[in-house]
Amino acid sequence: MALSEYVVLHLDNGLSSTSNPPSTSNVSQVEETCDDSMCAYGVKARLKLTEDIMFLEISHESGATNSINNAKSDLGLGNDDGPSSELWSTPSDGDWQRWEARAMVRAVALHSHRRPPPSSLKIESASTQIVSVTSKKVGVCKCIATSPAEETAYKTKVTRNGNIAKLQAGYLFPEIGRRKAAHMLKYPDAQVISLGIGDTTEPIPEVITSAMAKRALGLSTVEGYSGYGAEQGEKQLRAQLASTFYANLGIEEDDIFVSDGAKSDISRLQVLFGSSVTMAVQDPSYPAYVDSSVIIGQTGQFQKDIEKFANIEYMKCTPENDFFPDLSKVSRTDIIFFCSPNNPTGSAASREQLTKLVKFAKDNGSIIVYDSAYAMYVSGDTPKSIFEIPGAKEVAIETASFSKYAGFTGVRLGWTVVPKELKYSDGFPVAKDFNRIVCTGFNGASNIAQAGGLACLSPEGLEAMHEVVGFYKENTKIIVDTFTSLGFKVYGGIHAPYVWVHFPGQSSWDVFSEILEKTHVVTTPGSGFGPAGEGFVRVSAFGHRNNVLEACRRFKELYK
Ligand SMILES: Cc1ncc(COP(=O)(O)O)c(C=O)c1O
Repeated sequence: MALSEYVVLHLDNGLSSTSNPPSTSNVSQVEETCDDSMCAYGVKARLKLTEDIMFLEISHESGATNSINNAKSDLGLGNDDGPSSELWSTPSDGDWQRWEARAMVRAVALHSHRRPPPSSLKIESASTQIVSVTSKKVGVCKCIATSPAEETAYKTKVTRNGNIAKLQAGYLFPEIGRRKAAHMLKYPDAQVISLGIGDTTEPIPEVITSAMAKRALGLSTVEGYSGYGAEQGEKQLRAQLASTFYANLGIEEDDIFVSDGAKSDISRLQVLFGSSVTMAVQDPSYPAYVDSSVIIGQTGQFQKDIEKFANIEYMKCTPENDFFPDLSKVSRTDIIFFCSPNNPTGSAASREQLTKLVKFAKDNGSIIVYDSAYAMYVSGDTPKSIFEIPGAKEVAIETASFSKYAGFTGVRLGWTVVPKELKYSDGFPVAKDFNRIVCTGFNGASNIAQAGGLACLSPEGLEAMHEVVGFYKENTKIIVDTFTSLGFKVYGGIHAPYVWVHFPGQSSWDVFSEILEKTHVVTTPGSGFGPAGEGFVRVSAFGHRNNVLEACRRFKELYK
């Protein structure tokens, strides 16, 4: 498409509520002139408008829902048509579509507070056609564009994986990263504090890094060099993991597969199970379970009205059920993903609850994938491993990680336990197939990282990890006390570095945006973890102490 065919789209000041739906005839493509200083990617977006369709994504922020509802009514659609936010199309299209589904629009407009209100989007073409689209009152634009060169570039004949195409706009955390980047461009002088993504911030204890440094330096010597290691991990590390975390639980060295992190193992497990199994997941939950299930082809399409993928059993976990699903209402699935302590709610299942879960799996012949990435944050009698529950070895796999214990989010080291007792319906051991997956798709964790892992499990390393965990738990308490003192209902934060704050009746994205806009603190909207997370915001305790204190000071200022 020639550049001359582009028309310019302005974000105007002043709310112009049009009673007419957007008219886009004669307009084939629009170049958006956003304020470049506001553009996170430094590019201008091209909104591709065709005869009958225009898409624009609007973030959930205060006021957004109203203006979107206005837009819906302008388009003759009821409030129940389509998602409660984000997108609209002209009536001739009739249906609400996600922008990526059509791949027609290459722009995401991120609106937030304090900017001059761009409420109408005006399109000027040679014939000076004006198209107004109701928008929210205030906003800043961030654009993601495909260049004309890209659009006309050579394309292969390979069809896109339809399962990946089912995924929604983006993985939650990159989306938050994008919003943070846009915010920083908007407020270049603001001291933005991130209590959002859940990445660790404190240095790795030296007893651990020195072991890694030693192994790294050894690689430069003939005696110290080693190449490919065992795909399942170094024997000594596997043995040490078994004795440190599973002593007296009947888990042995050869049940343990060392990996480059729990997230990779979640995807490896999905490859292991394949596309024909059914799966259940806590709602809300860490997004990797659902996304990997979609990618591997276990699900149907995303159902916008209920914000769920078809063919996944969402097990609602809310304060009303003590964050443990009512299993009498859960349909049988082959696989049950269960994370405890839970990300994002911070709740940890009790021994009694896990006993029920194991029984439920056994009665149904299901396999539990138990994510214990935060087990070291557990105190008291609450189980740290699913294998503390009698009979769990016959129905459960456990995946775990050094990421949140020793600041290994960048180093990358985790492990997965697949007990030899766990069998498929034909009696074949699951571990044998997992071994095959690991040998085929993974050549073992980095030897330097494994040296670090071994150091983590030395007496000094364990003590150092407990200190790191203790530090984050103190942060957690500061956050819990802050929100509690402000009158909020707060959950989690005892056995996990996450605080789950309730904002009844409000949209999570609205709250996220308000907090970011008014305090420059990044949190995570609860609805990003599943529909039952709506109305909650997750505040992570991973942060330097002074940042956590400062963030809490700002929260007090905002909500006093
Ligand atoms: C519940 C849960 N599982 C797994 C992971 C990923 O861990 P890793 O860094 O080992 O891939 C995370 C990271 O935040 C998590 O919250």
